[in-house]
Amino acid sequence: MIEVHGLTKRYGEVLAVDDLTFAVRPGEVTGFLGPNGAGKSTTLRMVLGLDAASSGTATIGGTTFTAQPAPLRAVGALLDPGAVLPGRTAYHHLLALAAGNGIPRRRVDQVLAEVGLEKIARRRAGTYSLGMRQRLGLAAALLGEPPVLVFDEPLNGLDPEGIVWIRSLMRRMAAEGRAVLMSSHLMSEMELTADHLIVIGRGRLIADTTMKDFIETHSEREVRVRSPQAQTLRRLLSGAADVRGEADDTLVVTGLEAAEIGALAAAGGLELHELSPCQVSLERAFMDLTHDAVEYQAEKEANR
Ligand SMILES: Nc1ncnc2c1ncn2[C@@H]1O[C@H](COP(=O)(O)OP(=O)(O)OP(=O)(O)O)[C@@H](O)[C@H]1O
Ligand SMILES: [Mg+2]
Repeated sequence: MIEVHGLTKRYGEVLAVDDLTFAVRPGEVTGFLGPNGAGKSTTLRMVLGLDAASSGTATIGGTTFTAQPAPLRAVGALLDPGAVLPGRTAYHHLLALAAGNGIPRRRVDQVLAEVGLEKIARRRAGTYSLGMRQRLGLAAALLGEPPVLVFDEPLNGLDPEGIVWIRSLMRRMAAEGRAVLMSSHLMSEMELTADHLIVIGRGRLIADTTMKDFIETHSEREVRVRSPQAQTLRRLLSGAADVRGEADDTLVVTGLEAAEIGALAAAGGLELHELSPCQVSLERAFMDLTHDAVEYQAEKEANR
């Protein structure tokens, strides 16, 4: 379990993390979301003792990272895939980490096989592609079989097969009872992977909720309606809901439930060929919620 309490980080004028309080529970994948510059990486660095907090606390299993006797057995982390000596082979990199944390040597071969690097484990890490370095970082995180895992954008640089593999790895780690915290900007992937979400913007907590509740709460539900009398139906609904036409015979309705639309259509004697609530995506819900907290918008978007 990770517990963050009143965590704050100030860099001169910039308040990068502003009084954050949240917990990451075992048995779940928690997605850590926020626009660029929101303070995600800074928070994760403080959790892992790589940056000192200006105030507040962050603990892993009740103890701060720096007080852990064998850190790699308490928490596995991948923050920066570049953090490997380029002259070292993957095998020796992992062997050195294992030795420093009282982890048996056989775990090195196990994790190399698990991340699919066994064939190139004797090559110098400096020659690895981004995706290979990412996999090596994951191997290091898994080495000590820790109960807590922390990943900052682990999907960067991975090929489609690697992305699917990470999804199943995260799910498996949570199913084994570990606490998994993972940031990513790939919303479609997050939607498939995370159970719980922590959303921040400009250093502050915006949401701490289950994936399901987040999507339901933060985006208006739409219902698609198809009818040969679509234009009559549109007039009928427009007083009660927001209606836009998608095609000659298709409307998209916001502000009424499917059952209410069906009842109004029936009362008006109108024929329906389709009445389907649309699936709201995490991406839509995230953008609706964080729009005001986005600092670095593309020019077109900012001038809207
Ligand atoms: N070492 C530092 N010195 C000064 N400012 C910093 C430092 N590290 C981060 N910041 C600032 O803190 C804020 C939060 O940055 P952070 O990297 O934590 O954001 P993030 O949520 O990880 O963003 P991204 O999605 O782009 O990775 C930004 O305004 C950033 O410029
Ligand atoms: Mg970051």
